[in-house]
Parts: sequence; C-alpha cells; structure tokens
Amino acid sequence: MEKILELISKEVSGAFEAAGYDSALGKVTISNRPDLCEYQCNGAMAGAKQYHKAPFMIADEVAEKLSGNEMFESVESVKPGFLNIKVSPDFIRSYIVRMLHEKKLGVTQPGHQPKVIMDYGGPNVAKPLHVGHLRSAVIGESLKRILKYTGNDVTGDIHLGDWGLQMGLIITELKEQQPDLPYFDPEYKGQYPKEAPFTISELEQIYPKASAKSKEDEEYKAKAMEATKLLQDGNKGYRALWRHILNVSVTDLKKNYKNLNVSFDLWKGESDVHDVIPGMVEYMKNHNYAKISQGALVVDVAEETDTKEVPPCMILKSDGASLYNTTDLATIDTRMKEYHPDSLVYVVDKRQELYFTQVFRCARKTKLVLPETELHFVGFGTMNGKDGKPFKTRQGGVPRLENLIAEIDEKMYNRIKEGTPDISEEEAKDTAHKVAIAAIKYGDLSNQPSKDYVFDVDKFTSFEGDTGPYILYTIVRIKSILKKYSEEGGDAKAALLRNPETDIEKNLMLTLSRFADSVESAAKDLMPNRVCAYIYELANVFNSFYHGTKILSEPDADKKSGYIALLNTTLKVLETGIDLLGFDAPERM
Ligand code: ARG
Repeated sequence: MEKILELISKEVSGAFEAAGYDSALGKVTISNRPDLCEYQCNGAMAGAKQYHKAPFMIADEVAEKLSGNEMFESVESVKPGFLNIKVSPDFIRSYIVRMLHEKKLGVTQPGHQPKVIMDYGGPNVAKPLHVGHLRSAVIGESLKRILKYTGNDVTGDIHLGDWGLQMGLIITELKEQQPDLPYFDPEYKGQYPKEAPFTISELEQIYPKASAKSKEDEEYKAKAMEATKLLQDGNKGYRALWRHILNVSVTDLKKNYKNLNVSFDLWKGESDVHDVIPGMVEYMKNHNYAKISQGALVVDVAEETDTKEVPPCMILKSDGASLYNTTDLATIDTRMKEYHPDSLVYVVDKRQELYFTQVFRCARKTKLVLPETELHFVGFGTMNGKDGKPFKTRQGGVPRLENLIAEIDEKMYNRIKEGTPDISEEEAKDTAHKVAIAAIKYGDLSNQPSKDYVFDVDKFTSFEGDTGPYILYTIVRIKSILKKYSEEGGDAKAALLRNPETDIEKNLMLTLSRFADSVESAAKDLMPNRVCAYIYELANVFNSFYHGTKILSEPDADKKSGYIALLNTTLKVLETGIDLLGFDAPERM
C-alpha cells in the first residue's frame, strides 16, 4: 500500500510539473510546525536557484495548481516559499479504511519471503538466567516478531552455550561431590540412570563453586579441562551426565523464557556442531584460508581500511582444541547448508562486537556464506542500576531473572488489588504478570538497543509516562469504552469510520496512518524502539482525543458510532504494536 507521504508527494510533484518545474521538487514531509499544518513541502525553496525566481512565486503557482484538489483541505503558500499542507477529512478517513483492509495494516510485504535466522537468548546451560540474559531475549523476541510482520520467514535459534569448559567444570565438581556415581566408573557396563543425580537448584550451585575453585587451583582447572576434552571426545559416562545437565537445565530455561513471553523455534547449541568442526577445519586448510601461526590455526581477517586492529580469527588452539569462534563458524556453516538463509541476525552483548566482526569476516573470506548473505550484529548495551553501574541486587549479587520478575509481579499484584478490590485472585495474578512483563520489556525496548540504560523499577512500573503500563492502561481504557458501548446495545463491530470533524479526531487518524512507517523503519534498522516511540505517541494522541471528546454521551448515534470505529482502529493498532514488542494487555487493570 502506498504510504500517505508518497500519495501526497505524487500529487504535489504533479503540480510542480504542471507549473513548469522539476517534479522532484514536490517531495513532502511531515510538518515540523504541527500548529500550522500537517505536511509541508520545501521544494520551491530548493527550486529558486535553478529557476532564478523568488521561492514564494514558485510556491504560489504550485499552490494554485493544487487548489480544488480533493486530497487537500488546504495548500497554502507562505513566505519565504513554503507550502503548508492539510489533507482533507475524506482523504484521511479513506486512507485509514484502506489500511484496515490491507494485509498487516499496510506494512509493505516483499515479493518473496526472505529467510532470516535469528540467534538470540544465548544462555549458558547450568547457569541460572540472570538479568544479563534479559536483553538478548527481549530484543531478539521483538525483532523476530517485527521481521515476521514485515514479511520475512524467521527462524529463532537459542544457541545454547552447552559445550565449553563450563561443562568440564560441572563434571569435575560433581565428581568431587559424588565420586561413586556410575558416570565416573570406567568399568561400568550397565544402563545409566534415567533420573539426573541433581536438581536444577543443586546444579546452579555447582557451577559457581567449580568456577571459583578453578580460578584458585591450577590442578583443579587442569582436571576440568581434561574432563571437557573427554566429554567432547565422546566419553560415555560424561556424555550421559552431560545429557542430564542439558535436560534439567533446558526444562528450567523453557519455563523461564515462557514466563517472559519469549520462544524459540530451535533449541540448538554449541554442541550440535561438534561433528561439523573437523570437516570445516579441513576445508579451511585445503583452500588455504587458514594458516598456522604460533602453533594455532588462524584466518587473517584484518582489512586495509581498519582504523583499529582486528586480530586474526583463531580456529584451533595450539593444542588442537576448538573455541567459541569455531562453534560459531561451524554453526554458520550448518545454518547455511540446512536453511539457506538470506540473512543471519545476532542479538548479543555489544562487548562482543569485535568478536563478531572477526567471525563475520572469516565467514565471508572462507565463503561459508554467499556474497549476498546479510550478516547483522545487533549489539546491546548494559542494563545498569540507578547508580549507573551494572544492575545488582540489594545484596550486591547479580540478580536472577526469575527473582526480578517475581518481585515486579508482586509489586503490580498489590497495585492491581488496591485499584480493583473485587478482582478474583486468578485474574489479579494474571493481570499483574502481564503488566510486569510490559513494564520490563517496554523499559528495555524503548531504548535504542546499543545504548546502556538504567533499569528503574519505579519508573518502568508507573502507569504514567513513557512506560509499558501506560500503554496497557490506554488499551484497557479503550476496551472498557467498547464494552460499555456494547452493554448499551451498540454494535461496535458494525461501526463505520466517519470523516473527522475536530482537530484532535483528525490528529488521531493522521497518527494512525503512520503505523506502517514505524514498523518498516524498525525492521530496516533492527530497532524495536521505533515501534515503542510510535505507540507511545499514538497513546498520547488517543488520550487527548479521549479527554477532549464526549464519546459515550454523544447524542448523535452516527457520530458516536464513528468514534467507536476510531476506537476499534486505535485498539487494533496498539495491540498489534505491543504484540510486536512481545507483550499483551489484560482486560482491565
Ligand atoms: N552464550 C554466549 C554468552 O553468554 C552468547 C551466545 C551468543 N550467540 C552466539 N552465536 N555466539 O556470551
């Protein structure tokens, strides 16, 4: 569907041409003086030099050509040579009607569906999800939804950290604690137990313990490295134990991500490409992409234009062990072969930016990807506390995501109970959780991904201002008016949009017409914050309409039904917007 700016620009360009000027001068933008007009064109200013004419004379002629045009309520030429434009009420109404009939509310759909693989989440098995994992999950989920909505075929892959030294550390510590387990008995011939010899909370305590020990005790660290190698080489007992670790951990991860409204199509991990690595290494050697440097196998990825040093990409360490790089490259190889994606998008902490520069360059140089394959790194900033330092619990530790969510759930629960005393326990809990998730996600997503931001619970949970709960509150307000309308016998579904009569009503329609632009721009630049900014503006514009208009008490039934249709539309756009951000609204709050 052609965008409103395109339609207007076309008309104004035609007028420039009809008046004898270059049609390219007719480009129209949204007005930067909304008090004066809705759209503006500065083409006459630009044309003045070219045509040796005073800009206002050109503007006058163009305005003259547009007078009587049904698209416009007014086109004014103002000195020194601007065109101030207002569209006609009928034009904006019919534009919104068309938008509602379009697929995806007018968001442009590509001719063929590009295939995208999104790599986000990226938790490490056997470590509790902490707030550091929040951003990747929240931004990744939203981008996945935005990219799907804009016509991409998206597959989300969690890319578990399930294969490195951390597994060796856990195995080593388990062996210290429970040496009699059959997994450690090389003579053991029977079936290994079905049940894991630990619970998730036990498992979560093992890792930090082992990690701390390995930092102090060289011998312990050597044991962990040995265990890692044995595991990777296929030691039966270790593999069986590793599967328990994976199962217990993944069950817990699934629960946590579900709680956050985050989902993945693929639950693959670093371990899945273990068997791909030798072939890939051979290939890189055979094609002379990789060379030996100080015993290690590396691929040079520096480029002449680099202003900062980009070190070689290490494929194998001197002891032959693979690295984080190696699994990422092998994963790219597998993804290309299995899914043939047009693009790969990684949502990872921006501190890994240089690392991804190396990996992407290496993948291109070694032709693991096609020249046209797009590789995108969406690096996100740190989530800080009010003190400006990385977010910590009151006790100073890294907070577990689960606890953080539970804390905000409870805060919202108390607030909902207070505001709606007759609410059932079940609805209160469900509503509180929806509001909490909106608060957390919107608080994150409303910032540009690459920026650090302050996780301010009081601000994020406020029902006023640029927050998730404010957006939900606006949605709930609309739902409640629509409900009352039905209770009074009105048929909200049959309501038809009418031409706007007041400025606030028209402004609401004009704002609605910009939905597709915001989503397309968010998709293009991989920035969900564009959608946040748009729905926040829409919520504000709606609320001024609401405060300035008698909706249910409007005596003229047709007019009232027109308002209801406008409410339906606003609701639809807001609900689509929050769905793209990855949360949803309760019935009341
Ligand atoms: N597990 C990694 C970490 O915690 C993040 C994984 C990001 N994705 C990737 N393909 N490397 O740092």
